[in-house]
Amino acid sequence: MANADGTLSAIQEGFRMMHGLQCGFCTPGMIMRASVLLRENPDPTEEEIRYGISGNLCRCTGYQNIVKAVQYAAAKMNGRTLQEAAE
Ligand code: FES
Repeated sequence: MANADGTLSAIQEGFRMMHGLQCGFCTPGMIMRASVLLRENPDPTEEEIRYGISGNLCRCTGYQNIVKAVQYAAAKMNGRTLQEAAE
């Protein structure tokens, strides 16, 4: 999932920066699902993100930081900051 030069991808960076990392069971699935979601829909709404990750269940979180992580990644992949994307 990392970039070719070994740096974190936008999705990985999003999960790190927005504290979206959960356990080793759900996080890999969330990151893989976010990758497909953003490939299919590069600028998803919050509702589309929540629906998009709904097949990956985590019993331990309210998903808020995971959603923020995907929003962060989408913004970065579109050349914007998360704040710019929210405006
Ligand atoms: Fe991974 Fe809840 S933290 S399933």
